[in-house]
Amino acid sequence: MALVTDLAPLGRDADGLRELIAPEAPKSATNGQPMTARRKTASELRSARWFAPDDLRAFGHRSRFMQMGYGPEDWVGRPVVAIINTWSDINPCHAHFKHRVEDIKHGILQAGGLPLELPALSLSESYVKPTTMLYRNMLAMDVEELLRCHPVDGAVLMGGCDKTTPALLMGATSAGFPCIFVPAGPMLRGNWKGKVLGSGSDAWKYWDERRAGEITDQDWVNIEAGIARSDGHCMTMGTASTMTAIAEAIGMTLSGASSIPAADANHIRMCAASGRRIVEMIWEDLTPSRIQTRAAFENAIRVAMAMGCSTNAIIHVIAQARRAGCEIGLADFEAASHLPVIANVRPSGERYLMEDFYYAGGLKGLMLRMKQHLNLDAMTVTGRSLGENLADAAVYDEDVIRSLDNPVYADGALAVLTGNLAPDGCVIKPSACAPHLLKHSGPALVFDDYPAMKKAIDRDDLDVTPDHVLVLRNAGPQGGPGMPEWGMLPIPKKLVKQGVRDMVRISDARMSGTSYGACILHVAPEAHIGGPLALVRTGDIISVDVARRAISLNVPAAELARRRAEWVPAPARFERGYGWMFLRHIRQANDGCDFDFLQRDFGAAAGEPDIF
Ligand code: FES
Repeated sequence: MALVTDLAPLGRDADGLRELIAPEAPKSATNGQPMTARRKTASELRSARWFAPDDLRAFGHRSRFMQMGYGPEDWVGRPVVAIINTWSDINPCHAHFKHRVEDIKHGILQAGGLPLELPALSLSESYVKPTTMLYRNMLAMDVEELLRCHPVDGAVLMGGCDKTTPALLMGATSAGFPCIFVPAGPMLRGNWKGKVLGSGSDAWKYWDERRAGEITDQDWVNIEAGIARSDGHCMTMGTASTMTAIAEAIGMTLSGASSIPAADANHIRMCAASGRRIVEMIWEDLTPSRIQTRAAFENAIRVAMAMGCSTNAIIHVIAQARRAGCEIGLADFEAASHLPVIANVRPSGERYLMEDFYYAGGLKGLMLRMKQHLNLDAMTVTGRSLGENLADAAVYDEDVIRSLDNPVYADGALAVLTGNLAPDGCVIKPSACAPHLLKHSGPALVFDDYPAMKKAIDRDDLDVTPDHVLVLRNAGPQGGPGMPEWGMLPIPKKLVKQGVRDMVRISDARMSGTSYGACILHVAPEAHIGGPLALVRTGDIISVDVARRAISLNVPAAELARRRAEWVPAPARFERGYGWMFLRHIRQANDGCDFDFLQRDFGAAAGEPDIF
């Protein structure tokens, strides 16, 4: 690669220009200590391929930068940092990203880098239909290709609303450049008549109260206005809080970053610090492959269990780990399921929310409490090990962050069940369901799809008792399509009026991390591709025994074979476009729902783009 050393534009003499082109890498802006013995030189920066050569194409790159008002001082010898911003006008969880991106830019400039904001697909959990999960892999592809095709040396990833965190990290992992994740931060506690409201969980709860006639229409309107009252993502231990904490536990955020509420001034400082740090990471060539090891993913799974995580964590962690070349599967979650839940945050916990968790010491406090179960040598984006990052961790509220011998729930947040109804597994969140339902047998009440369920569930003459097992099928990765969060089926209105608030529900869908109840999810293989769930009929007896990790459909094998012979696959849901591609390449829940062609073992990496 030829560096421009003989041009003297802009009135500079050749020596001055030479210094601009190939300066010494700046000293560390964070701790003065380089993370590795060898730091990159300016000529080794990836972006130098675009800007340094003395050829016509590089002339075009430089002149177009100058068209935007930049000068050589802005780019020569400076790492170019992409800021992947998932802000949009219709993503309330990321509304503050419009401002926070400036804080990140500020940090990048302080450390001697050049920030470039690159907008990416914004997946708002509240508005994107039929489900954001249909588009998680699309955002991952967006990120991977944005990074690969542009003249950037590393990236800051801005996300938080559910799927955005795994999607950003999956894409950046495949791209392989140094990157740091900036979590959006949870919103403040909700409030209604002096009562604390939690995202999702209280929406479900008060919706049932309204259906039972126990709150007024005006109450409902007031709850609507009070449940989400600041910037930030859902503040229960839903998928957003779970996935940002997992990003931190893996080592991909600054230490302590994931717990900071979006509205806290510390969040602004964290953004600037992340901007400073990514510049250093580029000089250190601290890539995701040096951080995202099997040990890091084991840490993430154990931390997730101790947090009382969202069931969605299973799908996303499997997908992300496999992008990183780590063969993580359901067995790894089951192996960690003995760890108790020590974060007293709803819905597994009793009353607290993420704001309380932050004041109590945050994720660092929680990791301190379970230190003996973590791989403390795992490297993180800070350039230090997880153990070193925890040196200043503390717990300030013993009720919010419990000790291992005084847990919120002793038996593990998630359990993986298998049996003839789910040969490739399914999951339940025992910490968020009524204990008497952890061992249960009852007759199935089967709904073939969501519209059928919705039509029937409020009927007064529905033939259902609290012992029934509600079954929803054709809600999986292909059947949904996109595996929507329909798994917390509503309790039939008839039973709600009788005071029933939980019953066993089984589906090939997911459920929101803010949901709760005896919901058995992610049944694999899904019904749409002929999994055993497709063969269940109303009245069949289904047995669940969480302690034994067992689920069974108590129908003789010969009868199931007869039903299988009669089974007719449903027609494909898409005949063109992204959906068409999705249906052909999506993998099942136990494999993380990634596209087969994006998994690491599919083929050779794309490599660097040609520049001719
Ligand atoms: Fe964005 Fe819940 S809607 S995190």
